Amino acid sequence: MADAAREAAARLIAAGQAHLVAHAQGLGAGGPAFLAAAAAWPWEALSTAAQATAPARLELRPPRGLTWRRQVGEGGLRARLARLGLGLLAHGRVATLLLAGGQGTRLGHAGPKGTVELGPDPGRTLYRVHAERVLAARRRHARPLPAFVLVSPSTEAETRAAYAEAGDYGLRTPPPRILVQGVLPCLDREGRALLAGPGRLATAPDGHGGAFEALARAGVLEELVAQGVDVLTTLQVDNPLARPFDPVLLGWMVERRAQVVTKVVRRRDPAEPVGLLVRDVRGRHHVVEYSEVDPEAAAPLPYGSIAVHAFSTRWLLEQWAAGTRLPLHRALKTVEALGPDGRPAPVEGVKLERFLFDLFPHAERVEFHEVPREWEFAPIKTASGPDSLVRARLMVEAEVRRWHRERGLGEPEAPALRPLELDGAEPHDGPAPGAA
Ligand code: UD1
Repeated sequence: MADAAREAAARLIAAGQAHLVAHAQGLGAGGPAFLAAAAAWPWEALSTAAQATAPARLELRPPRGLTWRRQVGEGGLRARLARLGLGLLAHGRVATLLLAGGQGTRLGHAGPKGTVELGPDPGRTLYRVHAERVLAARRRHARPLPAFVLVSPSTEAETRAAYAEAGDYGLRTPPPRILVQGVLPCLDREGRALLAGPGRLATAPDGHGGAFEALARAGVLEELVAQGVDVLTTLQVDNPLARPFDPVLLGWMVERRAQVVTKVVRRRDPAEPVGLLVRDVRGRHHVVEYSEVDPEAAAPLPYGSIAVHAFSTRWLLEQWAAGTRLPLHRALKTVEALGPDGRPAPVEGVKLERFLFDLFPHAERVEFHEVPREWEFAPIKTASGPDSLVRARLMVEAEVRRWHRERGLGEPEAPALRPLELDGAEPHDGPAPGAA
């Protein structure tokens, strides 16, 4: 064995991954390259995260002292916030990032979630719906508001193909930019690396927290700051009602000089699978994932995250430069990997992920903005039930009808699935710049 390979092997053995060294020996000429690549992972950290039995204990207290103001019924304040947000938009100071790197296994749809059709026309997929919102905002504010899409190696090829085939859904100046997040190795429950095949580690996307690194490494944060883009909003591909250019959300950024503003809803029931808003002993606010919390402790927590966040771009850049990195979370999942007999089989394993909302505790000023769920939250998670595509379509229809009513436009034609015919603004956003 050459020195480099010997060194890599020693590192793997010291990190409890001796089986990879044994595996490399069976690979012949490919062995040293496999060893070098495998040894580059921080196995101690990965293995510790994979075996963690419980997340760091947070006292699950409801939030306090935040701006629990609904958009509804807050006439004066809402109008002021909307004006501030419209000011940012009018100067082109906002960009948006669509998170679309997840594997969407629960939905049972073949392909990235963004290719799920909302309708009414064939081809009106979630990718198109989100692009329509960007287009509408660009038209309304006459600014080239930049749009990014986060993909992972699991969704990249199909997403690029979908965008290319659809002519980037009409987003031309500038075209949308696709950023690729990283992957992390999958491990078994004892913290040992799993193999996907000969000479190949089993890996999975590193969670939407991977967006932080992807944005920083691609130089996007620096670019945005240099271009005078103050705010980057993020939204999830599975929510067709998400509003990345909501003037009220943006208004909070200005009003409170916040580094982060995020939208929350009242939870539907104590078991709703959403991120929970909690306060820790130091008084900092966090989102804690539902799957990491004891259901009994979670039950009384009233607010859930809809995963629409606004971040100060300058603050993100500073955090990256200061060395802030996101922690690892583990999810117990079945992983397609080589079993003990060397044949492919489903293995009870662990996937590791980073979450974007773990940035929140690093911020001095985080604002939480409550919105009515029926206006902004139609998540598509599962094939049936309250978070299904069928239910999301009904919610979008109800929303379109509301907008028509509020604008005095009468009943829209069925199926009413096109909120954006109304130029991307909600009735309460205030008049478009330049309007009489
Ligand atoms: C997510 C949030 C939860 C929130 C809920 C609202 C997390 C961990 N949880 O739950 O707090 O209340 O949505 O609907 O985010 N994604 C990537 N890369 C990845 C993994 C995911 O871009 O590696 C994207 C997905 O494409 C999707 C989003 O992140 O747009 C959410 O991922 P998902 O795993 O479906 O999270 P949920 O459990 O539904």
